[in-house]
Amino acid sequence: LCASKRLSRLKGLVMATKSEFITNMTASWIAQKSPFPFELAAGKKYAWCACGRSASQPLCDGSHKGTGISPIVITAEKSETVYFCGCKRTRTTPFCDGTHSTL
Ligand code: FES
Ligand code: FES
Repeated sequence: LCASKRLSRLKGLVMATKSEFITNMTASWIAQKSPFPFELAAGKKYAWCACGRSASQPLCDGSHKGTGISPIVITAEKSETVYFCGCKRTRTTPFCDGTHSTL
């Protein structure tokens, strides 16, 4: 390989690594491939982790900082059991819509 070809290959590698890094920084992570059953208490506010990085799943612990992703905040209308999305790929945030079964 001539030097310029080698350099352009190296540049390609650096670009790929960079874009992977950016994707990893900004994409939501799969916390688990199943929903989290959760007991809501009427009138209470909950912040669902949308980024998948929280250590207190399914709720936000602030770990989304720097990702550009924000939690979804809901106020419980009544006390009931809900199923929060754990895979973070649902189209009906913050609740599971079954998308996890396709992952
Ligand atoms: Fe995931 Fe806050 S930690 S949205
Ligand atoms: Fe995400 Fe079911 S856990 S769609």
